[in-house]
Amino acid sequence: VDESRLGEHVVAHLGFAPGGYAELAVTDADRLHPVPPGLDHAGAVAMIGTGRTAMGVVQFAEPGPGDVVLVPAAAGGLGTLLVQYARNAGATVIGLAGGPAKTALVAANGADLAVDYTEPGWAGRLGAHAGKVTVVYDGVGGDVARTAVGLLAPGGRHVVFGWSSQGLAADRPYLVDGVSVN
Ligand SMILES: NC(=O)c1ccc[n+]([C@@H]2O[C@H](COP(=O)([O-])OP(=O)(O)OC[C@H]3O[C@@H](n4cnc5c(N)ncnc54)[C@H](OP(=O)(O)O)[C@@H]3O)[C@@H](O)[C@H]2O)c1
Repeated sequence: VDESRLGEHVVAHLGFAPGGYAELAVTDADRLHPVPPGLDHAGAVAMIGTGRTAMGVVQFAEPGPGDVVLVPAAAGGLGTLLVQYARNAGATVIGLAGGPAKTALVAANGADLAVDYTEPGWAGRLGAHAGKVTVVYDGVGGDVARTAVGLLAPGGRHVVFGWSSQGLAADRPYLVDGVSVN
């Protein structure tokens, strides 16, 4: 490595190489990312892992002003970053989370609306946003996703990157505008 980089504060994803939890690790210099001032090790590792995934998710449906973005599990690792990303892109952001402590986190993270999706009939809390959602970033699946997809506007996008709730419940297809999409 160029000697000017010796002592630099860096973070790297080791790819398929094991050993990321060791105190010392070796990787190619071109895999290193400088850690900006103010970001601690825990934050840097979260960004190189979950942050990288979040950037991969949004490339399938880039949010912008005029979008209404719905984020299930918005207090989770990816959900937190997706809420921030969509807000910073100028979208209206609705974050769903389980319980009042998590919905408070989602609101503090900048969501325009934070809804507790463990409450029966939670979709009714979206008010005028119902049927106007343009993007769902979905890592939960199951009944939550089914309800979320039903809130999409025509042409809205459902980006699936996980199934934390254990599945898409394929026995009951999603309906968008009366058309089965699953
Ligand atoms: N992190 C990554 O880099 C990455 C990469 C590829 C795929 N994924 C997928 O993306 C999804 C989110 O990842 P994450 O890292 O953000 O996970 P996370 O921080 O653990 O968040 C997952 C959240 O999902 C919600 N959830 C809903 N139903 C659940 C259930 N039945 N059991 C457990 N949790 C449930 C919970 O939030 P509430 O309590 O608010 O419901 C939970 O906190 C996962 O499906 C994961 O497999 C993640």
